[in-house]
Amino acid sequence: MTSFTVRRARTSDVKSIRALVKPLANDRVLLEKEAVAYYENLQEFFVAEDEAGAVIGCGGLHVMWEDIAEVRTLATDGAWRGKGVGHQILDRLLAEARELGVARVFCLTFEVDFFLRHGFSVMEEQSAVDPEVYSELLRSTDEGVAEFLDLARVKPNTLGNTRMIVRF
Ligand SMILES: CC(C)(COP(=O)(O)OP(=O)(O)OC[C@H]1O[C@@H](n2cnc3c(N)ncnc32)[C@H](O)[C@@H]1OP(=O)(O)O)[C@@H](O)C(=O)NCCC(=O)NCCS
Repeated sequence: MTSFTVRRARTSDVKSIRALVKPLANDRVLLEKEAVAYYENLQEFFVAEDEAGAVIGCGGLHVMWEDIAEVRTLATDGAWRGKGVGHQILDRLLAEARELGVARVFCLTFEVDFFLRHGFSVMEEQSAVDPEVYSELLRSTDEGVAEFLDLARVKPNTLGNTRMIVRF
């Protein structure tokens, strides 16, 4: 069975999304969040489901500022890797970014080749936002934003990851 569809996430998908993220968070590939954070941010998420309706992939788009958003929690179930699930979810997230009026999308990842194929390039340190926006983003309590800003307190999370960005 190789057929799947990508759709907006529903509240009933949160358990499946967390199950996808858990092993990747244990390996420090993704950031694990509390269950409540998934419900609160549900509108950011898309999922892929197989023909039986099981969730086999997920991904979110988090808006950070007027012109910048982040792809986060992009994950495909191990048994479904290499079948185009990640590409379709990412395409959907980038379409969403365009629709929302975002000009640039950031990601922090070990999957550099995968993102290169989607037009992302490796980011120069600190070049994505001007100092004024940087100081505004410092007010955020979101861990992903802290990682984007490369703050000292999240350095252990970002170790070995590559910062990438695509501009529309
Ligand atoms: C990154 C990740 C989501 C990719 O998921 P995936 O479903 O395996 O991705 P795809 O199948 O679309 O693409 C993977 C490869 O399979 C190949 N592929 C095989 N069949 C394919 C198809 N039908 N359509 C498109 N690509 C296909 C592609 O060439 C692709 O190569 P590339 O990575 O060099 O571009 C997955 O590896 C993952 O869960 N990683 C851990 C979490 C993570 O690091 N997330 C990113 C940071 S948020």
